[in-house]
Amino acid sequence: MCGIFGYIGDKDAEKVITEGLKRLEYRGYDSWGIAVKKDDKIHIHKKIGEIGDVEEIKQLPGAFVGIGHTRWATHGGVTKNNAHPHFSTDMSFVVAQNGIVENFQELKSMLEEKGFKFETQTDTEVIVRLIELKLRDIKELREAARLAFLDLKGRNTIIILEQNTDHIIAIRNGSPLVAGISADRKEYFLASDILSFAHHTDQVVFMNDYQMVEIKDRKLSLFEVENGNEIEYKIQKVEPGEVNIDKEGHEHFMIKEIIEQQYTIKEATNYTKDELAELVEALKSAKNVYTVGAGTAGYAAGQIAYYLRKIAKLNAVELKSYEMESYKDLIGEGDIMIAISQSGETADTIEALEFTKKNGAKIASIVNMMGSTTTRMSDYKFYSRSGPEICVASTKAFTAQVSWGYLLANAVVDKFEEAKANIAKVSESLQNYFTEELFEQIKSLVDRIKDQEHFFVLGRGMNYYVSLEGALKVKEITYKHFEGFAAGELKHGVIALVDKGTPVFCIVSDDEVKNDMVSAAAEVNARGAFTVGIGDNPKQAFFEDFIEAPQAGDLSPITNVIPFQLISYFLGVVLGNNIDKPRNLAKSVTVK
Ligand code: F6R
Repeated sequence: MCGIFGYIGDKDAEKVITEGLKRLEYRGYDSWGIAVKKDDKIHIHKKIGEIGDVEEIKQLPGAFVGIGHTRWATHGGVTKNNAHPHFSTDMSFVVAQNGIVENFQELKSMLEEKGFKFETQTDTEVIVRLIELKLRDIKELREAARLAFLDLKGRNTIIILEQNTDHIIAIRNGSPLVAGISADRKEYFLASDILSFAHHTDQVVFMNDYQMVEIKDRKLSLFEVENGNEIEYKIQKVEPGEVNIDKEGHEHFMIKEIIEQQYTIKEATNYTKDELAELVEALKSAKNVYTVGAGTAGYAAGQIAYYLRKIAKLNAVELKSYEMESYKDLIGEGDIMIAISQSGETADTIEALEFTKKNGAKIASIVNMMGSTTTRMSDYKFYSRSGPEICVASTKAFTAQVSWGYLLANAVVDKFEEAKANIAKVSESLQNYFTEELFEQIKSLVDRIKDQEHFFVLGRGMNYYVSLEGALKVKEITYKHFEGFAAGELKHGVIALVDKGTPVFCIVSDDEVKNDMVSAAAEVNARGAFTVGIGDNPKQAFFEDFIEAPQAGDLSPITNVIPFQLISYFLGVVLGNNIDKPRNLAKSVTVK
């Protein structure tokens, strides 16, 4: 959600920034803009819609300093005028922002009273005018920006380009910001993630909230926003596997990431017993164990809590990071919160962790993106090591999280080695799973259902979360109404929706609830539903189609979600949708 990029170096700034913004595209955006400094003037180029071919964008060549921004509209419609960066009144600096200024109305009224004029509907312009106000008393831009930032409420990260010198300032709170420095110290990058500049350098400086970075005179300096004091920083090296962005011959990132799951479920559990031991002990002695996440990560949190209850016999409770209100006074010392997140930057989840920490509970996390806020807030940190997930709809991150949760739950009851062997077995079965034959079966099913608008998915026991996640996946890419339910809900109301020809997907594993699941499938079938089975349990006669998933025992949620990911992909392709960047969605939801 919104991306920020800044560059100072010896290359064409417009090109470097445009490339950087393209690598941030996956976060979701509806308009974009670039500002570069050339001939002691700032030049801005803004556009609505997609960035297009980097080679064709030659609006502002010959500049070596600049900033760029991809905007996901919050305040003010999707217009060129509202796109960032935004000029100061005297055109001496520009600002781009990622976040929401929560006290924007209040600040705007105050600034209007002081005579400031506004030309956009954005909250970003409030930041610009606020800096201008501070500059009436303080002549230094860095100090004025720092003081203005202290007046902002909400999670905001801003980047500022100044006209007079080769000077970029950025301040972080909530939304991510990371700096990159080339090995020869000639190039500096500031961005919302390391992926966007990883093809230039592997040396990075991770920043914390309320830190301000300044690049001036080819030098990077870090300051505390609170008092303006300069602080020391560490340059870290990132591994190439953590930043490789390539479709590797596939038409879309989504299908590449789906297929990668055969390996990523193993990578996510590439931990030794000793590496898990501290968390395992903490879980055993915890007063309460919670798991938390949002969206797909929320479903993974549900699945992990299920494993902790079923396998580890811990009374784990799954929470939605955006529905924590009633738990605020209940979570405290002696409790453990396990956070699940691909990006590690989800605002809802971070907010949940903030009060978890404040209340004295411990935080564990499983995150995919290196150096994220969630990881840095955690007492027990784990990476799902799935490599960059570029498609907005999460696939390999989900199964990696579930795989890790399964290993963790087994480690609590001393079944670490057994769990590892089971994960390896499932990984092996998946290596033979993605065949042309399977793809053809799914394409032909897609062809039969593509004109329907309403679909239902039923799951039970360990497949309950798969029904929710499977349905979410198809919704995101196809824009069709897919709804996941616990099969047990059917008779309590949901069956009223089932009519002749209604497509109902039933997830059937060879487990202790299979008879109940088959009965539910039979009931919808008896009412004329177009019933499709998914799972490792042999086809029932009444299924119109059955998509078989590998035998996986307790790991079936991993293998059973994959057919839904494939249905989502092939149906999205048939419908001509934007697979990797579905409408309205952002990869990293950094605002509430
Ligand atoms: C759906 C999806 C989202 C994310 C959610 C949390 O495919 O990707 O529902 O799971 O926005 O994001 P992370 O995992 O980055 O915390």
